[in-house]
Amino acid sequence: MEIKATDTSTLDWTGDILAVGLFEEGLEITGDLAKLNEKLSGTIEELIAEEEFEGKSGSTAVTRVGSKAPIRKIILVGLGKSEDLKLDGMRRTAAAIARIAKKQKSKTLGISLPIVNEDPAATAAVITEGIHLALHQDNRFKSEPEDKEPKLETVDLLGLGGQQEGISRAEKIVSGVILARELVAAPANEVTPITMAETAQDIASKYGLSVKILEKEDCEKEGMGAFLGVAKASDLPPKFIHLTYTPEGTPRRKLAIVGKGLTFDSGGLNIKGSGSGIETMKMDMGGAGATLGAAKAIAQLKPDVEVHFISAATENMISGRAMHPGDILKASNGKTIEVNNTDAEGRLTLADALVFAEKLEVDAIVDLATLTGACLIALGKDISGLWSTDEKLAAEIKSAAEVSGEKFWQMPLEEKYFEGMKSPIADMKNTGPRAGGSITAALFLKQFIKDTPWAHLDIAGPVWSDKENGVNNSGATGFPVRTLVNWVLS
Ligand code: BES
Ligand code: MN
Ligand code: ZN
Repeated sequence: MEIKATDTSTLDWTGDILAVGLFEEGLEITGDLAKLNEKLSGTIEELIAEEEFEGKSGSTAVTRVGSKAPIRKIILVGLGKSEDLKLDGMRRTAAAIARIAKKQKSKTLGISLPIVNEDPAATAAVITEGIHLALHQDNRFKSEPEDKEPKLETVDLLGLGGQQEGISRAEKIVSGVILARELVAAPANEVTPITMAETAQDIASKYGLSVKILEKEDCEKEGMGAFLGVAKASDLPPKFIHLTYTPEGTPRRKLAIVGKGLTFDSGGLNIKGSGSGIETMKMDMGGAGATLGAAKAIAQLKPDVEVHFISAATENMISGRAMHPGDILKASNGKTIEVNNTDAEGRLTLADALVFAEKLEVDAIVDLATLTGACLIALGKDISGLWSTDEKLAAEIKSAAEVSGEKFWQMPLEEKYFEGMKSPIADMKNTGPRAGGSITAALFLKQFIKDTPWAHLDIAGPVWSDKENGVNNSGATGFPVRTLVNWVLS
């Protein structure tokens, strides 16, 4: 499907289905809308009246137009009050339009929406994201998909002529979001540490990035005892993935993105009980999936920033080789950890990944992880927790998130709570009390960072959606690829 920017007006456009955005205060049929209404023999006026269409944000009305008309169907989309219109609202509006066009089996779609913030490039970009993300469907695991591929062939963005560049940039970001969705949605018998490493290698060879996979022996040499402790029980080899994008010329900044890459989390010997969602734990590589998704987008967008994409990929399993509750592990910075709960495994893998990232002498490190159920309880499904040692970095991520339409809420690094992680026998335990569980997890990670500005994103909620929500369909969301990419570009 192709999205095209055009200066064709709603009056001149011909095709299957035309979507027109209307503000609550813009329902009087005047100007161009009156001309279009006249051309369609009064259809718009009738549709507004019959459906009691008020232009409320998120509302839609669809009808067939007389057979002699140059367009076959029309969609009216409510945009709410003009003063409240934001880029993310436009992204969601475009998603809603795309879903209707798909349902109506349209081949050609024309979209007429206002320009937000007087920024036509950004408007074209968010509309593009909304359309592609809403239409993405994952038929990989069905022998006969019930939901056939959408028939949509072309989408014309009316009044956005000259904005093809914005569309193309958005499509690069979308390709990364979709890669992340597909990695996260694939089950643990399909996406393994081995295939994650292969995906990194594919991105590297396709887009000219450099990649290094540290095998188990390499990780042993690096002293990554925390990561390897988690990996011990699995029959699959652990893979420590390090993908690097290097711009031409001197990089303006050097950044590292570190994603939790548990291709399955059984809990280990502290095995997850029934009702704990063990069957959803294929999504525990959501951080790594988004890291590779961001790599794919950034490799195409080519910013003047050096970016390291890192993931310590493994499974948390049980076997005669499994780490025991009570084992003491030594991380690559020399710190010792008493594993009082084998289900708090993500932080153990991240510990060594963060130490590795800091050795690269980058200007900032961001990790992202489906780290705690506690964060999901605190912030719900739509919002990720954000912790940072650096207010400037936190502000950068918040503003990238705003542009991206992804939600974060900053949480405290309350040092006092680290008392709950004190071990009588090692430098720390890996689990504290139930209360404040997402905060103690963040404080644990902080032990593996010396002085590089660092932010931690606990994405346990937003990586997966049980139902259609905005630009997301039910299933893996690809969160927070858009924020990561916009952060790197900022
Ligand atoms: N992968 C889980 C966290 C998780 C829970 C992600 C629900 C997505 C949805 C993590 O490894 C885990 O098991 N965390 C434990 C920590 C506890 C043992 C301190 C948890 O949150 O229960
Ligand atoms: Mn776990
Ligand atoms: Zn986990």
